[in-house]
Amino acid sequence: MEEKKVLFSAIQPSGILTIGNYLGALRNFKKLQDDYNSIFSVADLHTLTVRQDPATLRKNVYELTALYLACGIDPEKSVLFVQSHVSAHAELTWVLNTICYPGELSRMTQFKEKSKSHEDNINMGLMDYPVLMASDILLYQTDIVPVGADQKQHLELSRDIAIRFNNRFGETFKVPDGYISKTAARVMSLQEPMKKMSKSDANLNAFISMDDDTDTVIRKFKRAITDSDNRIIFSEDKPGISNLLTIYSAVSDKSIEEAEKEFMGCGYGDFKLKVGEAVAAITEPIRLEKNRLLANKDYLDDVLKAGAERAERIAYRTLSKVYKKVGLVPRKRG
Ligand code: TRP
Repeated sequence: MEEKKVLFSAIQPSGILTIGNYLGALRNFKKLQDDYNSIFSVADLHTLTVRQDPATLRKNVYELTALYLACGIDPEKSVLFVQSHVSAHAELTWVLNTICYPGELSRMTQFKEKSKSHEDNINMGLMDYPVLMASDILLYQTDIVPVGADQKQHLELSRDIAIRFNNRFGETFKVPDGYISKTAARVMSLQEPMKKMSKSDANLNAFISMDDDTDTVIRKFKRAITDSDNRIIFSEDKPGISNLLTIYSAVSDKSIEEAEKEFMGCGYGDFKLKVGEAVAAITEPIRLEKNRLLANKDYLDDVLKAGAERAERIAYRTLSKVYKKVGLVPRKRG
């Protein structure tokens, strides 16, 4: 039997995750873990590139771990671990830094954007962010990385770094491919539907958090911005209605056409209520399961301990190879 391919993905534990994160990524992970040797990480080192309150960061690591599990990541099937628990990530980043250049890193779109939004804290880590991400991916000899549009440039760089290292030192890293899911939905703001839904939106009605309870979800959908034309069809000049149709289609596993048919002749108020109810039917059980898991820290610690051990074994195999290739003398043990 052919070995399954390796899939790697990570999410930053930086607080709220929205239904955009769920429908665009998390939801697909559950299915993907059957087809791939899947490795999912809580990218806590990445989160440090923006100023964090230590107690909140600690809490967010458990929150994200519980959310992964509540969304159906099975720790028996997949490796689920915290990035900082496997020191090879930081170690490989150091070596890869020596073949990366300030020019290419300062040209990254996300670095430029974050330098603007965090003007008071443009630290080296912010610039080095994509090299750490390349280390995440390359340590596991990853075949595919599910990425959203905003991470495509970073994945491209990871490929470049792998190729550059292999050319200079000999075949060491698998060159990873991006994976754009056919079913990943692009979810827009409920208040300004031309903008991507974002957890950092100052208007709390603009996004649905995975932590919102049923009443909150329905209330936010009722307030969603639409238009005055009263037809429920998917169309470029109807961004609000199109977004609601996209969301409904994603949570109900129906096509956009089927959704349009279902709501033909329906008023906007009714439509928004139905979308809210359909979303809450998905988010509410996840929220409850996540809270149940969070009440059992010992279980979460056990899952992360086992995950780190499995991840470490794979990661160190690659790191030793890298150290050897570049000429570092291996430490003698025993
Ligand atoms: N940078 C990614 C994001 O913010 C998170 C991430 C860290 C990641 N390391 C990764 C994603 C490795 C894929 C692969 O979405």
